Amino acid sequence: MEENFNVLAKDWAKKIPEKNYKIAADMIKRLNIGEGHNVLDVAAGTGILFSILKDKGLSNYVAVDITDKMVEEFLRIYPGTDVRCLDYEKRLMFDCDFDFIIIFNSIPHFNDYDAIFENSYNNLKAGGKFVICHARTRDGLKEHRRKIGYVSDKEEPIPTDETLIKLCEKHGFGEILIDDENYFYFCCRKTD
Ligand SMILES: C[S@@+](CC[C@H](N)C(=O)[O-])C[C@H]1O[C@@H](n2cnc3c(N)ncnc32)[C@H](O)[C@@H]1O
Repeated sequence: MEENFNVLAKDWAKKIPEKNYKIAADMIKRLNIGEGHNVLDVAAGTGILFSILKDKGLSNYVAVDITDKMVEEFLRIYPGTDVRCLDYEKRLMFDCDFDFIIIFNSIPHFNDYDAIFENSYNNLKAGGKFVICHARTRDGLKEHRRKIGYVSDKEEPIPTDETLIKLCEKHGFGEILIDDENYFYFCCRKTD
């Protein structure tokens, strides 16, 4: 049972738990995102990250999401924002380089990890950070899915440390940090 995000989009923003906003804010603080930074928000949904980032004095914020209704809803809530209906598993080049590329609460919906690492490498500044964050830990997410009877063909909805480390080695990222204590947080830096 995969979600149909076109159907979910209309009520998505209303149903986001408060806890997710707290985790998003914590992640943004941890990354020290602020004044003058360029941020790419991947699989942005209706703009949870933008609700926090809009007050940070960013130079540039771009959101992408594959679901047109999510993009519509994002733009209804935050008119005039740069939100694009794009598939991040397809090769993409943006008109600026980013300091941060973030996939928040969406990694279980991606299959082609090589594509997302390649896109992130190609669109980051040298020294920029690629971040994958999830409001549940790996075990917490599996347990949640078991409880709600969510069936997926993926054994690991959040990639393992081994997979992430291999992807970093292959795609030119270093300074890897993985924290799966209170929520899932993976961060790496474009070093090549
Ligand atoms: C669980 S929602 C999370 C949305 C938002 N980040 C949040 O936390 O509210 C997952 C999102 O991933 C998007 N998505 C799934 N596959 C995608 C892809 N290949 N490229 C871009 N967005 C994608 C979906 O359309 C959906 O909006």
